Amino acid sequence: MTKDIKDISLADQGRLKISWAVSNMPVLNLIKKRFLSQKPFNNIIIGACLHVTSETANLMKTLKAGGAKLALCASNPLSTQDQVAASLVKHDKIPVFAINSEDHKTYFKHIKSVLDFKPHITLDDGGDLISQLHKNRQNQIKTMIGSCEETTTGVIRLRAMEKDKALKLPVIAVNDSQTKKFFDNRYGTGQSTIDGIMRATNILLAGKNFVVAGYGWCGRGIATRARGMGANVIVCEVDPVKALEAKMDGFQVLNLEKAVKKADIIVTATGNKQVIDKKHLINLKTNVILANSGHFNVEINVLALDKLAQSKKQIRKGLVQYQLKDKKINLLAEGRLVNLACAEGHPAEVMDLSFSNQALGCEYLLKNKQKLESKVYILPAAIDQKVASLKLKAQGIKINALTRDQKKYLQSWQEGT
Ligand SMILES: NC(=O)c1ccc[n+]([C@@H]2O[C@H](COP(=O)([O-])OP(=O)(O)OC[C@H]3O[C@@H](n4cnc5c(N)ncnc54)[C@H](O)[C@@H]3O)[C@@H](O)[C@H]2O)c1
Repeated sequence: MTKDIKDISLADQGRLKISWAVSNMPVLNLIKKRFLSQKPFNNIIIGACLHVTSETANLMKTLKAGGAKLALCASNPLSTQDQVAASLVKHDKIPVFAINSEDHKTYFKHIKSVLDFKPHITLDDGGDLISQLHKNRQNQIKTMIGSCEETTTGVIRLRAMEKDKALKLPVIAVNDSQTKKFFDNRYGTGQSTIDGIMRATNILLAGKNFVVAGYGWCGRGIATRARGMGANVIVCEVDPVKALEAKMDGFQVLNLEKAVKKADIIVTATGNKQVIDKKHLINLKTNVILANSGHFNVEINVLALDKLAQSKKQIRKGLVQYQLKDKKINLLAEGRLVNLACAEGHPAEVMDLSFSNQALGCEYLLKNKQKLESKVYILPAAIDQKVASLKLKAQGIKINALTRDQKKYLQSWQEGT
């Protein structure tokens, strides 16, 4: 089988959607142009497990322009844009294995289908592909060059694998590039999480008590954007430094036990599990909205919610209302990534930065394959600087450069008062 998608007749709709993303990704388009002439990936097979969105389509086109053979599956069962999958298959001849709302079994069957292409490089968003590779396809690893990981949760897993000496190939933590996490995690997740909540509920945010669990890169973005919409934002953290930062950023900081009693909306963005657990669920106000923007659907204990509920019904697309003995609880996107399941994920302008790092990460793996070990690497700062410079240039923004004297001053210790 060379594809498994919903409906090939959606391809033309998909092409339009992709063209809009392409027109908002100037940095990746410049890399695409260079790849087209240099063909760095001739004879290289790249297997990707990413959200199948229009921005990902542009990354696939970029790698293909560089000569790569590709296969793509979804990194989340609910985030696939079926039109985009169809267009990649029909217009770009890229094998895609992804159907929106696919079940657990199909999701993993699709990951296996990508591994059947015997990729030299893999791209992950959350580590499911690399984890399957290490669990079930160890024999394939020796012919591989390396892998790139897109998100915080995936990088945490990879570092744990490295620590246990379980990691068997070099990995680039794309997430940890400054031009990724400063923008994608913060501004991308910030805006698209609000977008997902709005599309699923159409509620007014102004005046609502909006609880954000986790004040990392994503949480900061969500909290700031929710405040911009007029919500009273409450932050919950476990890290005292982040909690203090939230306080000084002007947010109310409470522990979860107190916050859940006030909440009209709760969004988790921690990368952790059971952040909203049974003990919190029983203390929620009626009609509360629960959403998650962390990578996996483990941040809200949906199993506990199922057990507490007398019944549940789908009220709107992406919104299921649970009837408990004394209250109603509204869960968005089954507790999965609300920004991708109920909206369309990050705007293309942000994915321009993230996927430029992915494309350059693949090239870096290839160029440095002789010296890289089975470790988690961060891309050199020079790549970050280059990506940021190109993005500024695309926006017509000029900045200053250090003078020779200033450079010397910053490197010396002799000058003082
Ligand atoms: N929705 C998206 O499109 C998107 C985009 C990027 C990252 N992510 C995912 O979002 C999650 C967070 O990513 P990040 O980059 O913000 O990570 P981060 O490490 O910067 O922040 C996570 C924060 O959560 C806090 N935390 C952990 N457990 C907690 C708990 N029980 N209660 C309250 N706070 C807790 C941590 O102290 C930390 O400050 C990850 O799973 C990541 O993969 C999602």
